[in-house]
Amino acid sequence: MIVIFGATGTIATPLIQTLLAMGEKVRAVTSDPAKVAGLRAKGCDVAVADFTDPASLIQACTGADKAFLVTPADADMTQWKANAIEAAKQAGVRHVVMSTGLGASPKAGLALGQWHSQSQELLKASGMDWTLVQPTYFMQNLLWQADNIAANNVYLDDLGGPVSWVDARDIADVAALALTGENQNEKAYGLTGPEGLSGEQIADLLTTVTGRKIDAQPVSLEQSRAAMGAGGMAPVVIDAMLELSALAPKGYLGAVDPTIQSVLGRPARSFEQFIRDNAGAFSAAS
Ligand SMILES: NC(=O)c1ccc[n+]([C@@H]2O[C@H](COP(=O)([O-])OP(=O)(O)OC[C@H]3O[C@@H](n4cnc5c(N)ncnc54)[C@H](OP(=O)(O)O)[C@@H]3O)[C@@H](O)[C@H]2O)c1
Repeated sequence: MIVIFGATGTIATPLIQTLLAMGEKVRAVTSDPAKVAGLRAKGCDVAVADFTDPASLIQACTGADKAFLVTPADADMTQWKANAIEAAKQAGVRHVVMSTGLGASPKAGLALGQWHSQSQELLKASGMDWTLVQPTYFMQNLLWQADNIAANNVYLDDLGGPVSWVDARDIADVAALALTGENQNEKAYGLTGPEGLSGEQIADLLTTVTGRKIDAQPVSLEQSRAAMGAGGMAPVVIDAMLELSALAPKGYLGAVDPTIQSVLGRPARSFEQFIRDNAGAFSAAS
């Protein structure tokens, strides 16, 4: 049995689909009782548990031998991961695959890299087998502004420099391999997509796929701060996000890592493919 935290989220949704298709037994964890029926309908066992409630986490892990751990980007995410790691250990889980972020290490200069690193070091010291997936920015973030792209033909570029976006379906495929393959203990997989793309290049891809002229529009740090605040993000997380995005204009977020190709034996999905697969989201309903 593989227990999947964050089961209704961006990475775990395709991960669960893949694991079920492989014939694995999956227990999906949600904090929202309203999502239980939908997860069951996919063919999962389901547990309702909250990262703030250790007893519920232990119950969710009981009977599982492997776990996939991801939390939302939240001010409490290091504590949430610590609670889940402790619960997995207490419940007898043998191997945890955890998703953090590219560049997370004890030497990381950024807050996000430090927070993810604390979770990584905790897992490494837990005595359980571990594998880390460390993705860069997800292509799926583009869906957050899909309605605006459809309505106004504008791509809001809050990065201002090249980013080697990765498709969360590729993160899920690497996680699935880590959960089911041989010799996955003590591996860390830094994950990027196949190319670094500027905002203008993303707008060009949207133009190509939709057949409508889409323009890139720069977004200032203060506009980004206001938008994230309006979405309910905690100020400390907003600061960490802006600290990271400020690296893009310097060109530090555009490097390509070949890990997806080397681990999966096929190229990472391109941003153009991602847009094609979600083309309907970027076009207004007629
Ligand atoms: N987005 C990016 O570009 C990016 C890039 C690199 C790294 N990351 C990292 O990736 C992680 C986010 O991954 P993701 O996008 O797959 O996650 P996500 O979709 O943001 O969240 C995963 C799930 O966590 C569950 N959840 C929320 N609060 C919970 C709670 N209190 N207890 C239990 N479950 C709870 C939610 O499901 P339910 O409502 O069903 O409980 C949610 O669907 C973050 O650590 C972020 O720092 C993100």
